[in-house]
Amino acid sequence: MPRKRTEPFLRAVRAEGLPERGWPWELPAVRALESGLDLDAPVVMLCGDNGTGKSTIVEALAAELGINVEGGSRNFRFATRETATPLAEHLVVVRRAGPRPVDSFFLRAETYFNVATEVERLGGPLDAYGGVSAHERSHGEGFLDLATHRFRPGGLYLLDEPESALSVHGCLALLAVIADLAASGAQFIVATHSPILLACPGALRYETGADGVAPVGYDEAGPVRLTRDFLDDPQRFLHHLLAGGDR
Ligand SMILES: Nc1ncnc2c1ncn2[C@@H]1O[C@H](COP(=O)(O)OP(=O)(O)O)[C@@H](O)[C@H]1O
Ligand SMILES: [Mg+2]
Repeated sequence: MPRKRTEPFLRAVRAEGLPERGWPWELPAVRALESGLDLDAPVVMLCGDNGTGKSTIVEALAAELGINVEGGSRNFRFATRETATPLAEHLVVVRRAGPRPVDSFFLRAETYFNVATEVERLGGPLDAYGGVSAHERSHGEGFLDLATHRFRPGGLYLLDEPESALSVHGCLALLAVIADLAASGAQFIVATHSPILLACPGALRYETGADGVAPVGYDEAGPVRLTRDFLDDPQRFLHHLLAGGDR
């Protein structure tokens, strides 16, 4: 068992020498990195609408940390398409002096299938994945296997929308894993739209958007507000949505 540590590995990230024009330099969230982003918490969460740059940032961070940008660990070197992100070479990651992570993994919902294939190709025991190839599990089951069996105290985990494959129940299970490991010295950087995952105790939460990246409280976070409003009165929402749409 790795020794318990409570101080996060990554303290901050900032971008230097960003070009002015083109993708992804014009994304407000990417520009905001020029002023630096505090990551000094066991759980850092990025929420924000689709297309605001969450994946761009998490992917670049993974690349800068030497983790396969299509998802996987430092040993995974496969790529099914050109995913190298130009932002990575402009990132300066401020790490805390001390032990390195005992494990690091980047989990992307959209490429998890490829990660499962790579795990099979590399062979070896599947213990870290629950003993069963993820190809023989549902997408959500595979995700939870990985979180439950591979993620460890003292690890560094980057997750991009891990909720996409999960039921509400599955999200609660993942939340429990994250909260538990974060209390035992793991660090998580998570891009998410899930009001459940965002509830992780002690998380440092940011919202990406037109104004860049801003710290946000749980109750103020977009996914939480909108979901809460919807659940308060689904009929009212539907009325507005359908009246304002083409149908
Ligand atoms: N390789 C790329 N080339 C050009 N634009 C891209 C590329 N990848 C993503 N984008 C654009 O960058 C913006 C941010 O994307 P992304 O980081 O995936 O957003 P999020 O994860 O917050 O939904 C989007 O408008 C997206 O279309
Ligand atoms: Mg994304």
